[in-house]
Amino acid sequence: MAGREVAPSILAADLARLGSQLREVLAAGARVIHVDVMDGHFVPPITFGANVVEAIAGIVHGAGAVIDVHLMIERPERQVADFASAGADSITVHVEATAHLHYALQAIRELGCGAGAAICPATPTAMLSDVAADGVLDLALCMSVNPGWGNQRLIPHSLAKLAALRALLAEQVALEVDGGVNGATAAGVARAGANLLVAGSAIFGERDPGGAYQRIVQAAWADA
Ligand code: DX5
Ligand code: ZN
Repeated sequence: MAGREVAPSILAADLARLGSQLREVLAAGARVIHVDVMDGHFVPPITFGANVVEAIAGIVHGAGAVIDVHLMIERPERQVADFASAGADSITVHVEATAHLHYALQAIRELGCGAGAAICPATPTAMLSDVAADGVLDLALCMSVNPGWGNQRLIPHSLAKLAALRALLAEQVALEVDGGVNGATAAGVARAGANLLVAGSAIFGERDPGGAYQRIVQAAWADA
């Protein structure tokens, strides 16, 4: 996860043909597939459970890619084991959704997955400083929109937050940005320090998701 990757988010996929949509982006080179789990409490919508992770694990792992689970659910520490056994490779919990972030991150690692912590747009970056200093973090996720829905515009202050997070994270900790990433915003978030760029509607909202994925990769790191 510490490498440069654009991670297609299946939230925006045509779920009636999820398998073929996944094969298109995997064939185009995607190596991280982002799965947005919403519980109807932490955020209003309800999306996918561990059964969906299990359903896609064969396709994703068969292509040499990994499943990046983003839990937008309350008390996520109660659910991480189910997602790990379903095939998640990394699991990210929201700092706003648990009183036990340190515990949750350790539990995720003990299950053999990369441990991620996410912050919403109104949450200060300092909320991650203690777990970062403690070395229990493999990934920090900066929400660049309010969580719950795809196809929103990137909040400009996210760029400053990404830079602040990059400064407080050790080099091997991945910095993921999620929300409003597309061909126009990718270079800015990459320059601010994000190495893992989630994109949903900018990929699956296009007629050719594989081509759209490749264009975002090129836009992000063209000058790097
Ligand atoms: C939003 C999700 C995102 C979503 C991004 O709550 O966490 O992963 O899929 O969608 P886009 O790329 O359309 O902004
Ligand atoms: Zn997400």
